[in-house]
Amino acid sequence: MGALFISFEGIDGAGKSSHIETLAAQFRAAGRSVTMTREPGGTPLAEKLRAMALNDAMDPLTEALLMFAARRDHLVQVIEPALARGDVVLCDRFTDATFAYQGGGRGFDWNVLSQLEQWVQQTAVGIRQPDMTLLFELDPSIAAERLAGARVPDKFESQPVEFFRAVAQGYDRRALQDPRRFARIHADQPRESVWDEVLSAVRARGWLS
Ligand code: TYD
Repeated sequence: MGALFISFEGIDGAGKSSHIETLAAQFRAAGRSVTMTREPGGTPLAEKLRAMALNDAMDPLTEALLMFAARRDHLVQVIEPALARGDVVLCDRFTDATFAYQGGGRGFDWNVLSQLEQWVQQTAVGIRQPDMTLLFELDPSIAAERLAGARVPDKFESQPVEFFRAVAQGYDRRALQDPRRFARIHADQPRESVWDEVLSAVRARGWLS
């Protein structure tokens, strides 16, 4: 089977991280080579950009440009080579997060983000997008309860619940624009039930038996 690119998205506190690990283990058990990575980040340069974007105050365009700069480096250095090797690439957030957080959350111009996307995700095979995006959906007030006290919040995690409502709307808008790519996961369930939905979505595409 060929290379696969799967991204994981959702508001902070939706609980996607542990499922990325479990899905990686499933693919490895099926004999696949897996690259697990994240955004912003995934390369030394992109991790430096992440530290700035998540900690320093800046205007929304600057924030969006840092996210896309990190994405370009990550795509060129890690994602494209991994896909060329035939890996399964599991990426904790990708470009939909920019539309949700900078577009929805910050209210930054959606069309400018779309233009940046065309520039940054241009590769030899066209505009790179994930083969599937698992969108973990959860009411923002429940996500906020889950986050409270869990750790020291970064710039985004310390935003009020209204910010996350706007982020969730941004994700919804993206999902409606490309419904075949997205699998919506009901994240307001016990962990095992959430995992069942994740596995079903991957199996439905014939990528795991
Ligand atoms: P997250 O992926 O939740 O990592 P951790 O679990 O280690 O905190 O954190 C990344 C944060 O960056 C998250 O709040 C969403 C935000 N973000 C953007 O605002 N725009 C983007 O394009 C990306 C990829 C992330």
